[in-house]
Amino acid sequence: MSETPTVTVERDGAVAVLRLNRPDKKNAFTAEMYAAVTSAWREAEADDAVAAHLWLGLPGAFSAGNDIEDFVRMTRTGSLGVEILDFLRMLASLEKPLVIGVDGLAIGVGTTALLHADLVVASETSLFRTPFTDLGLVPEAASSLLGPRRLGHAVAFELLVAGVPFDAARAAAVGLVNRVVAPEALEGAARETARALAAKPRAALAASRRLLRDVPGCGRAEILARIEEEAREFAARLASPEAAAAFAAFAARKK
Ligand code: COA
Repeated sequence: MSETPTVTVERDGAVAVLRLNRPDKKNAFTAEMYAAVTSAWREAEADDAVAAHLWLGLPGAFSAGNDIEDFVRMTRTGSLGVEILDFLRMLASLEKPLVIGVDGLAIGVGTTALLHADLVVASETSLFRTPFTDLGLVPEAASSLLGPRRLGHAVAFELLVAGVPFDAARAAAVGLVNRVVAPEALEGAARETARALAAKPRAALAASRRLLRDVPGCGRAEILARIEEEAREFAARLASPEAAAAFAAFAARKK
């Protein structure tokens, strides 16, 4: 285990602030990081002093997605890691509002997680990309359900299947991001957004959030079911020659 925690947690008034902190790997997610995020969220959900969650990355790297070496390890076990599944279930089950602040790279789950946020603030230099197909994989985090609903089929297909990178302006135009600010203003703006939500009457905020999320065909139960369905397909794809070739190409590209 590294000395510096790869996930840090702090309180900003009534906001529980979580930060991914693995700068040497552009915040690529390891099993340990998923588990740390899940446990931090579980604690914050149970704490009456917390009214909202804020999730941040590092300057230039919100997250490079799942650690590809971890994907390779999963090909040996034949299933998606339990830490990933627990994280995704928790992400889809948060009762308190989630604000995400993105600067720089938002790859894979770094993009699909945004579909679960209530408000997203991004810097002008952010880049959103999900290279699932190129890696021999399929969309996850219920993005195959939430993406088309939020973005429409054509745009969701471009992002989630064709793997087209979206810059911040495009992400805001299609409704993936609420607000775009200068990189140096990102953290302040994201904190301010989360604090403003946390200051609202809590019961009214919770009830309103629940109403907006309880959409026919796309409520929590359907989202959780889709996470499981995608995970089965994802596990099958992980074991495929297509994925093996893509992971080998990633490993070889620096040599
Ligand atoms: N898994 C494991 N390692 C990763 C990683 C990932 N998803 N993303 C980045 N890294 C590592 C790189 O291997 C490199 O490690 P090294 O310094 O030990 O060689 C380090 O992070 C820095 O990345 P680097 O590629 O040098 O930075 P870059 O700015 O040139 O490119 C990315 C950044 C994110 C565009 C590129 O690293 C990339 O494409 N990563 C894979 C993204 C991905 O496919 N994620 C899975 C989505 S499902």
